[in-house]
Amino acid sequence: MTEESSKDLPEKPPAPGSPPAGPILFYNEIVIAHFTNPRNVGELENPDGEAVVGDPTCGDQMKVHIRVDSNIIVDIKFKSYGCPGAIATSSMVTELAKGKSTDEALMITDDDVVLSVGGIPERKKHCSLLGIKALQEAINDYLRKAKDLG
Ligand code: FES
Repeated sequence: MTEESSKDLPEKPPAPGSPPAGPILFYNEIVIAHFTNPRNVGELENPDGEAVVGDPTCGDQMKVHIRVDSNIIVDIKFKSYGCPGAIATSSMVTELAKGKSTDEALMITDDDVVLSVGGIPERKKHCSLLGIKALQEAINDYLRKAKDLG
């Protein structure tokens, strides 16, 4: 459990039938659907581009693998050690990137992701940066390797 997510929990569970004691984050149905059933989870064998990024403020981490064919992202997988917001938004990042050219995928913004999941609580907005940063670094890794191969 991350430091951030442990702060979201009340110190002890509420008594049955009473309202929860601590602050509650409300996630919409799209976020919950992507958190409980994240898309494109896993790893690719011999990916064309890969990246692992972390958020030093909360310790969450994200790994992204991409498969690129004729400059199109034909497959993408992610694994996350992150909060519900990070998992849901990273799942959406993979959905947005799949089928796009590397140039188009590099232009996906944090706002695109937040809009695509129908919004996210203000204090969790930074979580969507993790998936975006991992995607961008995986694409840059691919572009570096492609350049090195000439
Ligand atoms: S709290 Fe770390 S990414 Fe969400």
